[in-house]
Amino acid sequence: MPSESPTDLSERKAAHLEICLDERQYSVESGNAGYGGVHLVHRSLPEIAVDEVVTSHDFLGHRVAWPFFISSMTGGSENAYAVNRNLAKVAQELSIPVGMGSIRILFHKPDVIDHFLLKRDAPGVPVFANIGGVQLPQMEHGEIYRMVERVDADAIAVHLNPGQEIFQPGGDRDFRGILDAIARFCRNAPFPVIVKETGFGIHPDEVHVLFDSGATYVDLAGSGGTNWVTVEAYRHEEMRAAADEFVRWGTPTAILQAALGRDRRGVLASGGIRSGLDVVKALALGAESAGMALPFVRALTRDGVEGAVSFGRRIGQVVKAAMVLTGARTVDDLRTVPLVMGRDLTARAVMLRDITINEERESDG
Ligand SMILES: Cc1cc2nc3c(=O)[nH]c(=O)nc-3n(C[C@H](O)[C@H](O)[C@H](O)COP(=O)(O)O)c2cc1C
Repeated sequence: MPSESPTDLSERKAAHLEICLDERQYSVESGNAGYGGVHLVHRSLPEIAVDEVVTSHDFLGHRVAWPFFISSMTGGSENAYAVNRNLAKVAQELSIPVGMGSIRILFHKPDVIDHFLLKRDAPGVPVFANIGGVQLPQMEHGEIYRMVERVDADAIAVHLNPGQEIFQPGGDRDFRGILDAIARFCRNAPFPVIVKETGFGIHPDEVHVLFDSGATYVDLAGSGGTNWVTVEAYRHEEMRAAADEFVRWGTPTAILQAALGRDRRGVLASGGIRSGLDVVKALALGAESAGMALPFVRALTRDGVEGAVSFGRRIGQVVKAAMVLTGARTVDDLRTVPLVMGRDLTARAVMLRDITINEERESDG
C-alpha cells in the first residue's frame, strides 16, 4: 500500500513538473555528467558518404530512427496527462522510444489510465511503463504485468531512487529486499525489464548484479542532470539545508560508463545528457542508446510539440555529422571509434571500478 493517498500522489506529480519546468525559479540540475572529459577523434579522411550512415537501430522489438530516447517522466495529474500525450507525439514524429512515469497510481486511481496510454499517440515506437523498485517487494507482480499490458507498453522500467525517497515527504524508506524482488520480477515478466536510476547513477558492480538478476537493459541515469533530492527539497522547506549538501551527489554518467567499459552490452546512458555530442560520446563509451528527460519536457513546454521535435532533429543532425566525422557507418561502429579520455575522468573511473561494493560478488571471486 502506498504511504501517501492517491490525491497526494497526483499533487506530487503535478508539483514535480512545475518545479522542473520553472527554470527561473528553481535550479534542479547538478550540471556535469562528465562528457566534457571524453573527446571524439576527428577524421579528415573518413571514407564515408553521409547518405550511407545508418542512425537507426533495433530497440525493444522496434526499428527506431535514432539511438536516443525520451526518459520516463510523468502521468497521474492533469498537466502530466497533456505532457505525456505530447511527449508521445514527439516520439512518434522522431521515431524514437518514449517512457512514461510510474504506473503505481493506477492501482489506486484507475480512472487516470488514459494518462498512460501513450501508444495511442505513439503507435510506431517502443513505449515503456515504469514502477519504483522500492515498491516491488510489497506488490503483487502479476498485477503489475497485467497493468503493463493494459497500458499497451512494450517494456517496463524499474526505477531505483533511494535518494529521492529519503527527501520526499512520506517517501518509502525501507530499501531492503529490492534486488531479490527485481530478480523475481524479471524472472516472470512477459516483457523486457529496464532497471534505471533517476539521476545519481548505478555503480558498475550493481550493474553486473542487475544483469545477473535478469534485467534486459540497465540505464545508468547518473548525475549531471536533474537532481531529485533538490526537486523534493523545493517542496519541503525544512529539508532544504540538508538537501543542499547533495547538490553534487552521485556519480556522473560518463564516469560510470568509463568504469564499466565499452564492451558491456545492454547499457543505456542517461542523466545530464544535454547535446548531440553527449549522445555520441555516450554511444562511443558503449551505451546502446542515450536518454534525456528534462531537455525534452522543457523544449515541449517552451515551444510545443513542434519545438520538441526540432530539438530532437537537431540532436539527430549532430549525431549523424559526428558519426561521419569519427568514421562510424552504424550506431554499433561508434563503440569502436578511437576516444581520448581526460586524466580526471580516467582516474575517477579506475578508482570507481576498483571499489567493490557488493560483498557477495567479492566472495564469489
Ligand atoms: C518531470 C520529471 C518526472 C520524472 N518522473 C520519473 C518517474 O516517474 N520515474 C522514473 O523512473 N524517472 C522519472 N524521472 C527521472 C528521469 O527519467 C531521469 O532519470 C532523470 O531526470 C535524469 O535525466 P535528465 O538529466 O535527462 O533529466 C523524471 C524526470 C523528470 C524531469
